[in-house]
Amino acid sequence: MSDATIKALQEALSATPENQPLRRLLAETLLGAGQFSEAIEVCRQGLSRAPDLALEMLLAESFRRAGRNSESLVVLEALCRRPEAPATAHLSRARLLTADDVQAARAAYRRALELDEALVDPELAARLGVSGEKWRDADERVPAGDAPRNAVPRMMERPQTAFADVGGMESVKDQIQKKIIYPLRNPEIYKAYGKKIGGGILMYGPPGCGKTHLARATAGEVHAGFIAVGISDVLNMWIGESERNLRALFDQARENAPCVLFFDEVDALGASRTDMRQSAGRQLINQFLSELDGIDGNNDGILVLAATNAPWHLDPAFRRPGRFDRIILVPPPDELAREAILRIHLRGKPAGEVDYAALARKTKDFSGADLTACIDGAIEELLEESMSRGVPQPLNTKNLLHAIKRHRPTTKEWFATARNYALFSNQGGHYDEILEYLKLK
Ligand SMILES: Nc1ncnc2c1ncn2[C@@H]1O[C@H](COP(=O)(O)OP(=O)(O)OP(=O)(O)O)[C@@H](O)[C@H]1O
Ligand SMILES: [Mg+2]
Repeated sequence: MSDATIKALQEALSATPENQPLRRLLAETLLGAGQFSEAIEVCRQGLSRAPDLALEMLLAESFRRAGRNSESLVVLEALCRRPEAPATAHLSRARLLTADDVQAARAAYRRALELDEALVDPELAARLGVSGEKWRDADERVPAGDAPRNAVPRMMERPQTAFADVGGMESVKDQIQKKIIYPLRNPEIYKAYGKKIGGGILMYGPPGCGKTHLARATAGEVHAGFIAVGISDVLNMWIGESERNLRALFDQARENAPCVLFFDEVDALGASRTDMRQSAGRQLINQFLSELDGIDGNNDGILVLAATNAPWHLDPAFRRPGRFDRIILVPPPDELAREAILRIHLRGKPAGEVDYAALARKTKDFSGADLTACIDGAIEELLEESMSRGVPQPLNTKNLLHAIKRHRPTTKEWFATARNYALFSNQGGHYDEILEYLKLK
């Protein structure tokens, strides 16, 4: 669906804001176009005017597609408590719950099928251990014994990037140097001073600001292996199996030391859900933490890094000394860092005269990912021009500025949420860095 259609729908809606069917159409169109935050905004506006089942479903779906599963779940939970909730709401809820509450997921799946038996989903049923005739006694059965032994999909990489490929992030680099790289290179000095080696660094912050990029570059910097694990991968496995897989993961890192073990979206695993009825979830967390504790004992050479967008969902046990005792905000790049990032990403590309300082000035609130998206956009446009002229055109300041103008920075939304946590649940001063960044402190 084209931008023009979206624009037309937006205009029509602002002329008739009470038109809910039109609003739904706009939300659906935005969702289809991958503009999730915009879709979320439209749904929220609509829901603040009047209750609307379809908009609630669209809101849940937009959150899910944006990777914001816990928010999606919150919407669905509220919806599913009402008798008029559609079967598909129960189905979506079942899917989201599979990871950490199998019992509830089964109940939700069953409810979905009662309402609409056409919604049978064999794959989900298999994951919930309720396929076919096993359905009857399924609620008593714990799907551990005969569950598929699918290991965590993971690969060890040998990253080719190093700190020089990461623009800005000086203070994070510095902490990684001190806490992780120096001890790795000079273990005897640390031991001589009786200083413990170990513990990991958890980076948090808005999307696209280089957390994953830097973790990979850390491995490259010290010529270590790199294993990245999406925590949803670990959780998506069967209860019982996942603990074994977690252990296998640490074993693999140990065998390949030096090795950076990188946990992405660590909040999913450390979720401090007060309603964690699922003791298996607890167990998984405890195992994770004891593996982490093992790192300062006999696991020399494993560097643990983790990243999340939502540190407030993290179990407090993660913060204890020797675990993730460094929790660092990775803010959007400042002007100098933006200049550095642009230079890094334009390396090796056909670029003519580029006024980096001017571009950096015009890109306040842009993340690293926003900047690379602008470069890609400018290149695409240039390619078309080059083809029609038959001669390759080099990138210049004007092309880039044009792409920058069309791009909306993505970091502001995150700070709107973060600000609330920092202001209202900042026990222990964990989020002081956010307050400082927002100049609220
Ligand atoms: N400081 C940086 N220097 C160079 N490139 C960067 C930097 N920050 C981001 N990028 C570019 O943006 C892309 C996205 O960044 P990255 O995946 O590291 O973000 P993230 O912080 O992990 O985001 P998320 O929270 O969504 O996982 C990177 O692949 C890289 O190309
Ligand atoms: Mg990342």
